[in-house]
Amino acid sequence: MFAPSLAHLSYGRMAEGCGGDFLIGRHFMSDAKNGSTQRDPQQLRSARWTAPDDLRTFGHRSRLKQMGFADEDFRDKPIVAILNTWSDLNTCHSHLRQRAEEVKRGVLQSGGFPVEIPVMSLGEMLMKPTTMLYRNLLAMETEEVLRCHPVDAAVLVGGCDKTVPALLMGAISADIPSIFLPAGPMLKARWKNETLGSGSDVWKYWAERRAGNLCDGDWNEIENCIGRSAGTCMTMGTASTMACIAEALGMTLPGASCLPAVVAEHSRLAAATGRRAVDMAWEGLAPSKIISAKSIDNAITAQQAIGGSTNAIVHIIAMAGRAGLAMSLDRFDEVSKQVPVLGNIRPGGEYLMEDFYNAGGLGALLTRLNDVLHPDCLTVSGITLGEQIAGCEVIDDDVIRTRENPVSQTGGTCILHGNLAPEGCVIKTVAADPKLLQHKGPAVVFDNYAELKDCIDDPDLPVTADSIIVLRSAGPLGAPGFPEWGMLPIPKKLLDQGVRDMVRISDARMSGTSYGTCVLHVSPESHVGGPLALVQTGDEIVLDVERRSIHWNVSLKEIARRRAGWKEPEAKASRGYLSMFAKHVTQAHRGCDFDFLEGRSPGEEPDIF
Ligand code: FES
Repeated sequence: MFAPSLAHLSYGRMAEGCGGDFLIGRHFMSDAKNGSTQRDPQQLRSARWTAPDDLRTFGHRSRLKQMGFADEDFRDKPIVAILNTWSDLNTCHSHLRQRAEEVKRGVLQSGGFPVEIPVMSLGEMLMKPTTMLYRNLLAMETEEVLRCHPVDAAVLVGGCDKTVPALLMGAISADIPSIFLPAGPMLKARWKNETLGSGSDVWKYWAERRAGNLCDGDWNEIENCIGRSAGTCMTMGTASTMACIAEALGMTLPGASCLPAVVAEHSRLAAATGRRAVDMAWEGLAPSKIISAKSIDNAITAQQAIGGSTNAIVHIIAMAGRAGLAMSLDRFDEVSKQVPVLGNIRPGGEYLMEDFYNAGGLGALLTRLNDVLHPDCLTVSGITLGEQIAGCEVIDDDVIRTRENPVSQTGGTCILHGNLAPEGCVIKTVAADPKLLQHKGPAVVFDNYAELKDCIDDPDLPVTADSIIVLRSAGPLGAPGFPEWGMLPIPKKLLDQGVRDMVRISDARMSGTSYGTCVLHVSPESHVGGPLALVQTGDEIVLDVERRSIHWNVSLKEIARRRAGWKEPEAKASRGYLSMFAKHVTQAHRGCDFDFLEGRSPGEEPDIF
């Protein structure tokens, strides 16, 4: 069932030509090739904690022995931290305790000392108001957990949406050898004779239910079967997009991004990741040797070619910022113009992640983009991305399209500018109705999500299919936390008329599993006085994606009049983490990181007294 001919995905077997040597070997790469220096045990970072003969290190060793470990367990061995985002309230990570054990097995096989460290778990479904509020908190925790402990290398175990960028941002800042193990997507769901995709089919059938076309029994059946197994959403939502980006960046083993969470290969991937982490510790293969302007470009190429989540744009900018790389939103648009969408995966296409894996996965897709990739970028496997994908093969041309028959000739997302979004905004064209990509209509404005929720189904709402629904107070500060409200609901009276898409604009994000003609991430957001704050119901807005333009047809004089009457909203948090978030989070076009965390870490090590 799971394409055993895909040697590069068959963890535990020698995979010729696909970077598979590391699966069974140790230190297989020459130092010259990956620019790393093979260390001796005294050069390991953890040796500062365990090797010297002094009072403090006596305490470290004696307390490790308190836990039942002997000198043979940890002396002269790399300590590999397994940062695990498992939690009972993270619905997508229920298998990660077992995967952590499998990583440990791999670390022990390669002569390392594995230690599991639980870190904050950002479960998309149950965490409110939005996990995005806490992405930076997990990133800070990751950085500090790595810095303050005797860690020579880290395996970052995550998958549900924000856990991926958060773990990577922290590891990039800490700059300790790190490798990412994606949780993997869940299996495809079936209902009657339909294949159900996470998120996307929930929105679709919810619209039908609101239109009166789906009975209680059917709705209940969908609820019972749409979460098929452990793992992340199996559409090309944010989790799968970020896993693909991690692989394209060079931060995972080859083929890791698409491996379904519950197949045996995933367990073998976990062990292989643990083995490789030990080698990375000896080699000192830190993120600063992997993350570069070129590898970031590879990540953007992957995001466009898979028709990936718009959320990835914010996360890529934030990850690049941690590596000291200033990125403009416009880079996404430049890449978008060169890169077709080849991944025929929902919500922009037809298939699901399990199909993508069986069709060859990300590596196979990237072989069709050799001319726009930077193949010389180093990866955690110690070889280049080009070497890593060289032997990959597309098994199904309908799932991974050819350049001659793409899902879309250009990338899946576009960046728009105009007087409504001076710092830019985002639209996922591959998931929008093409007829609406050039559209002019009157705004129907909601001040906040609570007002929208109360009024959207009012039969007297002055809205037609040509209207443009506008939501403000939904950005990083306005909501706060930049929630995924951007796929604004279609008014019930239009649903009853058969309308299933219309132009919607907000300063919110939208779930990667969502779809529709939704203009997102409007920057600056309304809360800080961005133009969205001044739009009124009835104002004409013109969307022209071909020209990359979003224009608000209101005179400068009238805009000045409205601005004079605008008052800055009161701060929504006065204490704790929310207060820090409000003081330091950047706007969407800068990645929503904390301003004091941008740029490279100075590499300071803790004093050991
Ligand atoms: Fe966890 Fe979608 S809810 S990946």
